[in-house]
Amino acid sequence: MQLHLSTWAEVETYLKGSKGIIIPIGSTEQHGPNGLIGTDAICPEVIGKRVGDDIGALVGPTISVGMAQHHLAFTGSITLRPTTLISVVRDYVQSLVRHGFERFFFLNGHGGNIATVTAAFSEIYAESSFKAGSNAPSIRCTLKNWWQTPGVDKLSKELFGDREGSHATPSEVSVTQFAYPEAIKQARMDPVGKPSRAFADAEDYRRLFPDGRIGSDPSLSSPEHGRRLVDAAVADIIGDYKTFLTQA
Ligand code: NI
Repeated sequence: MQLHLSTWAEVETYLKGSKGIIIPIGSTEQHGPNGLIGTDAICPEVIGKRVGDDIGALVGPTISVGMAQHHLAFTGSITLRPTTLISVVRDYVQSLVRHGFERFFFLNGHGGNIATVTAAFSEIYAESSFKAGSNAPSIRCTLKNWWQTPGVDKLSKELFGDREGSHATPSEVSVTQFAYPEAIKQARMDPVGKPSRAFADAEDYRRLFPDGRIGSDPSLSSPEHGRRLVDAAVADIIGDYKTFLTQA
């Protein structure tokens, strides 16, 4: 069930049975020579929709632009500042709290979002912590990275080994090729080594990783690999979401 394809009355009915919602969050940033700029938003959106369909969970609109300042030296990339993304996450959650939602399961597609989204959760918790004894229902937020579930981790190692790398990976590119076969791109690319150090700003990133990849070989991507990775992610995330809802 998707929020943007529901009526307000349907959401009201849903809330009688569940206070939980899945929120895909990603990024709009370069993904190497053959990866789509929307990769990090497409992956959690596709997986989140499948989870929602399979178990009747509500899925909110994808937050498609994230914290990606380090990709801005590549054309087409868009970022929110960390402080802006914190505000976006807070306002999104607080809007839904007003309606009665209590459990917020962010399904993440971008490593660069983790620190900022975690800080946004602390801001949300701080607001209720300042209200002593309000006795309001407690809000819980969690962030799950789709590419780090046990099933995805095992399968990506099996399919790609150490050519998985850490940005513009064959796993994420495969998922987008499965989701949008009409948008598959071909590109020539040479092998790239492991990063020698952490990057800083956008110019530094581009100096270190001239074609955008970090240690990956996305020429190994295929729609069939993507299908298997989505299946693996959905199975794991259904378990994680159900546990999150039932935790005391
Ligand atoms: Ni990515």
